[in-house]
Amino acid sequence: MIPTPRRGRRALVAATLAATTALVGLVAAMPAQAAAGTLGAAAAQSGRYYGAAIGADRLGETSFTSLTNREFNMITAVNEMKWDATEPNQNSFSYGRGDQIVNWARNNGKQVRGHALLWHNQMPGWAKNLSGSALRNAAINHVTKVATYYKGKIHSWDVVNEAFADDGRGSRRDSSLQRTGNDWIEAAFRAARNADPNAKLCYNDYNTDGINAKSTGVYNMVKDFKARGVPIDCVGFQSHLGTSLQSDYQANLQRFSDLGVEVQITELDIQQGGNQANMYAAVTKACLAVSRCKGITVWGVRDTDSWRTGANPLLFDGSGNKKAAYTSTLNALNAGGSTNPTTPPPSNGGSIDTNAWYVLVNRNSGKALDVYNLSTADGAPIKQWSRNNGNQQQWQFTDSGNGYYQVKSRLSGKVLDVTAKSTADGAIIEQWTDNDGANQQFSIQTIDGYIQLIARNSGKAVEVQGASTVDGGNVVQYSDWNGTNQQWQLVKIG
Ligand code: XIL
Repeated sequence: MIPTPRRGRRALVAATLAATTALVGLVAAMPAQAAAGTLGAAAAQSGRYYGAAIGADRLGETSFTSLTNREFNMITAVNEMKWDATEPNQNSFSYGRGDQIVNWARNNGKQVRGHALLWHNQMPGWAKNLSGSALRNAAINHVTKVATYYKGKIHSWDVVNEAFADDGRGSRRDSSLQRTGNDWIEAAFRAARNADPNAKLCYNDYNTDGINAKSTGVYNMVKDFKARGVPIDCVGFQSHLGTSLQSDYQANLQRFSDLGVEVQITELDIQQGGNQANMYAAVTKACLAVSRCKGITVWGVRDTDSWRTGANPLLFDGSGNKKAAYTSTLNALNAGGSTNPTTPPPSNGGSIDTNAWYVLVNRNSGKALDVYNLSTADGAPIKQWSRNNGNQQQWQFTDSGNGYYQVKSRLSGKVLDVTAKSTADGAIIEQWTDNDGANQQFSIQTIDGYIQLIARNSGKAVEVQGASTVDGGNVVQYSDWNGTNQQWQLVKIG
């Protein structure tokens, strides 16, 4: 069926052209954002996070908690969520210490990186005594139980930690887990996805911070996983660094990003003695330069909290004073985060203006997200149409918590909805009365100043189907592949 063309479109376009032009001029004239005063706020300007790893034993120390609360918006447990901590006896779980960290983080409005589901170190004694299928089954059970317990509370899980060797050949590390079969890593990722479909699933390792045999081994694994549909969303680069930074540090992040996975710097600490402040700035700039590098975590807050005794590798001294490395990091975040005032930095506790109305312009087609045929009915399809700033092209974001938003039409008052809660590629996006369903909630990722809307129930991105550029092109969900037809510019118009 060919839908009836809508009337008055051309007139409306002409009538609003002047206003649109004026708006663009106004946006360009806006001053750059004021510099943020904390690491978390500075990172949030570009839709990124800045995190720290903390131990539950520090939570009673007010000077520590107030400093951590002030500066960071992502938290990792240093040891409390590792296998030996969470499953000290087989199939008997112990979440008390992990919960202390997760609850402190969430009560203070922070997100949590889960670290780590499977690792050859810090395995409980009983698991060290297993091998073969008994170990494989125990490992998968561990992944399933822990990821299920923390379901909905974890931004990203380090599903597998340090599974590659330092042998200069990019081989897998020889470990009891590896000896259960080379597919142990993908089995772990599949189990984690089943247990918590909304957590990002990461592979995490060290000595992978430049382009070398080990990072290439990981790269080839991720590429293979993507090709075969093994669920992997992110790669963590621990970045326990000495006194010099690999010259290809950024290029290495970029090549992983180009595979379509998010990259995260997960355990950053840098030996004092070289130019620590410059190195911190360089790492920060490298992440900011890579669109899919979504955050940095330092492995401890003060030098006295570090596992690298004597290295003084962190951003605060033992008394909680800011070091030069702190200032260089903050400045780098501020410099990189204030480049595009037309797009508010959304994602995860960031600053979408929930009072504003936005037009969402597709990066590929230049057309706007539009309620087709000015419908106010449930089930009306959402399409793209030449931008005219009409009410059917204006959308408001409602914060539904945990980093998710609903997207409400100004015309109909209804919200974007993945039809019939589908999880399939190609399912249409329609409008529906707000029922707060997971198929009406979207997380927001930023790429180069554009946003992606990721449906909570399916994990898929809202896109213009087939990268169409015509008026009436369908808007559907599809697996996130970083396409420009999956990216939208947020233009605030009221
Ligand atoms: C370290 C902790 O900081 C220490 O407290 C613990 O004794 C050993 O583990 N790579 C990782 C982290 O992935 O889990 C490690 O953390 C540091 C190296």
